[in-house]
Amino acid sequence: MDRVRVGVLISGRGSNLEALMAAARAPDYPAEIVLVISNVAGAKGLDLATRAGIPTRVISHKDFPDRAAFDAALDTALREAGATLVCLAGFMRLLGEKFAEDWRDRVLNIHPSLLPAFPGLDTHRKVLEAGVKISGCTVHIVRPELDDGPILVQAAVPVAEGDTPESLAARILELEPQCYPLALRLLASGQVRIQGRRASLAAASAGTGLVNPAGPKRP
Ligand code: GAR
Repeated sequence: MDRVRVGVLISGRGSNLEALMAAARAPDYPAEIVLVISNVAGAKGLDLATRAGIPTRVISHKDFPDRAAFDAALDTALREAGATLVCLAGFMRLLGEKFAEDWRDRVLNIHPSLLPAFPGLDTHRKVLEAGVKISGCTVHIVRPELDDGPILVQAAVPVAEGDTPESLAARILELEPQCYPLALRLLASGQVRIQGRRASLAAASAGTGLVNPAGPKRP
């Protein structure tokens, strides 16, 4: 089986990276991680990748005069590694329009809210301030606007009365490692059809975009 070559972009801890690496160890997983890039030197995720034998690079946005030059360096590194898909896994930089268009439909991102609600930074504080009763996480195909694009997989968690941004983040982080490997598997195995703002799944996997083990049953 030819596996799709994936580059993962991180900025920090790397728990989503770890989940993707674990999934990719299965022989029947349709993707392999060929490069991990961090824009932050010393990011913990870099150690996880090194220990797993995956090549890493640090490409700091601070070393470039503008976003376009930084994006071009990312693009070059990914192409040199032969990557054809990209996973943003806690990558805390906005990619420019050119990168998003050059890699159209080939970049995934995970965000800790039920998009399109609560994009951007400080997500959990905004969720708590808004008083919503459910939050979660979303894996979506990247478009140039922040945390925007066709949704592949979502998982929901209840917001509890005494939640803090930290407790809510921790509860959501428990589900993220289930969502990202599923989304990458769907995309890498060619099961995703994108039409306008919508991503739909091929008939055989219809309905699998909802990860919600303890949640409501699907209709
Ligand atoms: C995750 O919670 C992810 O959803 C979030 O950053 C964290 C990264 O954790 N991403 C964003 O907020 C992107 N807008 P990790 O480094 O342990 O995977």
